[in-house]
Amino acid sequence: MANFTLPKNSKVKSGKHHAGKGGEKQRRFKVYRYDPDGDENPRTDTFDVDLASCGPMVLDALIKIKNEIDPTLTFRRSCREGICGSCAMNIDGTNTLACTKAICDVKGEVRIYPLPHLPVIKDLVPDLTHFYAQYASIKPWIRASAPPPDRERLQSPEDRKKIDGLYECILCACCSTSCPSYWWNGDRYLGPAILLQAYRWIVDSRDEDTGARLDDLEDPFRLYRCHTIMNCAKTCPKGLNPAKAIAEIKKAMVARRSL
Ligand code: SF4
Ligand code: SF4
Ligand code: FES
Repeated sequence: MANFTLPKNSKVKSGKHHAGKGGEKQRRFKVYRYDPDGDENPRTDTFDVDLASCGPMVLDALIKIKNEIDPTLTFRRSCREGICGSCAMNIDGTNTLACTKAICDVKGEVRIYPLPHLPVIKDLVPDLTHFYAQYASIKPWIRASAPPPDRERLQSPEDRKKIDGLYECILCACCSTSCPSYWWNGDRYLGPAILLQAYRWIVDSRDEDTGARLDDLEDPFRLYRCHTIMNCAKTCPKGLNPAKAIAEIKKAMVARRSL
């Protein structure tokens, strides 16, 4: 029989409140917590942070909380420059990078959750194993039968321009985890991030395997689950448009059929 209620241990409960000393510069952060080693439900803890002694970004507040209030708070980060993609999380209802999201751009409490619809390893750390396996499946490197030249493979300025808007992708997964099609079919649908990457190699003039790359995507699930809902383009913290890249792959499929 179908079960229409969530399992008991999936309900997010209200957690601890780490009250601050008050003051004009105090902001409240509600942070999702989950400890895989305990039996407890996930919870949201509340932290009052004095912004007078904190950097301007959400990541600065998380680091301050970890350093000064609760060292068990777990999250990923590395570059703090919007380049590594590791601090991707859901802030104020939107998937974005904690290191480039200004605290002052959030009204009221700053609500912080892990990227949605992925298994959670701990607190704000999602399990990206499947996402990276999907990335590996598109063989994201130049595939060419000609032996490599002594120096770099050359490309005209016009051809180089074709990968603008694609090469900047940092694989943060904000787009894929905002895509309803990926939520429901992520086991087989590649999702916007991986399809944008796939197109990045399809359109690269130095790659010689376009036909095989398109063959791999010619599948009702891997490519054709995109329904142009556009959440991906709205959420991308690098301002990229994965939906457009997906549309270009579909166009390339049609074009080769009519050859
Ligand atoms: S397209 Fe944008 S949101 Fe998606 S993985 Fe790349 S950088 Fe992140
Ligand atoms: S446009 Fe396609 S890939 Fe982007 S969110 Fe919508 S369904 Fe997902
Ligand atoms: S820490 Fe690298 S993108 Fe945020």
